[in-house]
Amino acid sequence: MKKFLLLLSIVPIAIAGCGGSDEGSPSGAKTAGAELFNSAGCAGCHALSEADANGPVGPDLDGLKLDEQRVQEQIENGGGSMPSFKGRLTPAEIDRLARFVSRASQS
Ligand code: HEC
Repeated sequence: MKKFLLLLSIVPIAIAGCGGSDEGSPSGAKTAGAELFNSAGCAGCHALSEADANGPVGPDLDGLKLDEQRVQEQIENGGGSMPSFKGRLTPAEIDRLARFVSRASQS
């Protein structure tokens, strides 16, 4: 129920922000990306303020200014004590997450 209300409040913002397309727009992608960051489990290990994440295991991603390619490689291959997410997320989800994390890590 709580999640349903949250979705209802997000939809008008997403529509206002990107004119109906949810790709390629900062506000639309940000919402979907933040949700994915949490649902995929990234938030359990990483802090990232745009996703309201405070995970204490991996590096704090805020301010790292990662490029999309770097994030995508890390999600696909893992590294250090981070698992690979290749079989767990679809290529489209990995793509969306890479864009979101890259943008969110710029500040
Ligand atoms: C089990 C804990 C864990 C989970 C879950 C996890 N990570 Fe990580 N992540 C780490 C650790 C630890 C590192 C540092 C790896 C190293 O030292 O090489 C890392 C590194 C990274 C880096 C590289 C940072 C840099 O400086 O290059 C990115 C980007 C990243 N993670 C994104 C994600 C995303 C996106 C997800 C969700 C799909 C995720 N992580 C899930 C633990 C985790």
